Amino acid sequence: MQTVRSSEELARWRDQITGTLALVPTMGALHAGHLALIAEARQRAERVATTIFVNPTQFNDKADLARYPRQEAEDAMKLRASECDLLWVPSVDDIYPDGFSTSVRVSGISDRWEGEHRPGHFDGVATVVAKLLLSVRPDVALFGEKDFQQLAVIRRMVSDLGIGIDIVGVPTVREPDGLALSSRNVQLSPEDRARAVALPRALEAARDAIMDKVDVRGVLGEAEDSLLRAGFSKVDYFALVDATTLEPLDRVGGEMRLIAAATIGGTRLIDNMPI
Ligand code: PAJ
Repeated sequence: MQTVRSSEELARWRDQITGTLALVPTMGALHAGHLALIAEARQRAERVATTIFVNPTQFNDKADLARYPRQEAEDAMKLRASECDLLWVPSVDDIYPDGFSTSVRVSGISDRWEGEHRPGHFDGVATVVAKLLLSVRPDVALFGEKDFQQLAVIRRMVSDLGIGIDIVGVPTVREPDGLALSSRNVQLSPEDRARAVALPRALEAARDAIMDKVDVRGVLGEAEDSLLRAGFSKVDYFALVDATTLEPLDRVGGEMRLIAAATIGGTRLIDNMPI
């Protein structure tokens, strides 16, 4: 695996390779969820590139950015073992050089849910992902369903701008007890880690209840209550949405997704499930 840092080094590597290329953008602190994206990328292209960039513009909370885990040496070892071909670790100046003035905003789909609770977050995500895609120029780019709204925002952007790169969503990788793997899980105390399993449990229970065609609003309300009873301090949302537009639904129909965000012990977790 080759590691490059500057955009110039990346461009030299890109110009010299032939064959198909898959890209997996990350913010590092890699876990089995990220590695599932790399494994899927290997199936879809002859070469795999990964980026590690903790993108400051998508953090609406400075403290969250400051405590975001960084472990490049360990990440590089995992990527080497996964047969990744290229690791690009740009600096903030590489991505946002002096005078950088462009912002990509995907309206509508960015506004609710995460967008409402983390103002500006998806503008930061869309802008950096556009830059990463255009810099690396892969044939395909892979993103986790774990961040379901992010995947939908990126699909919309790539389609709207005619970027011409296939966007592939990869199912969420979970701990044996069902908690979705996340770089933020290390911030949980052992007690909160044990209680956090209530989040996937609530999604499963709501999925089963909704399948039985019970009143949707009642099911979602009960799910929120179950999280508060389990020790979550705040539920930002627990919703049934259209899987493409992320618009809320109060009746079953079409392709749907259950999405949720809730805080436990100061750590905000998100998760979702297909119906
Ligand atoms: P990050 O949180 O590092 O996640 C990188 C990719 O891994 C995302 O596509 C995310 O959805 C996926 N992922 C995270 N946990 C997963 C899990 N348990 N199972 C499957 N996939 C999982 O998401 C970002 O970084 C950033 O917003 C980024 C897209 C890199 C733009 O800065």
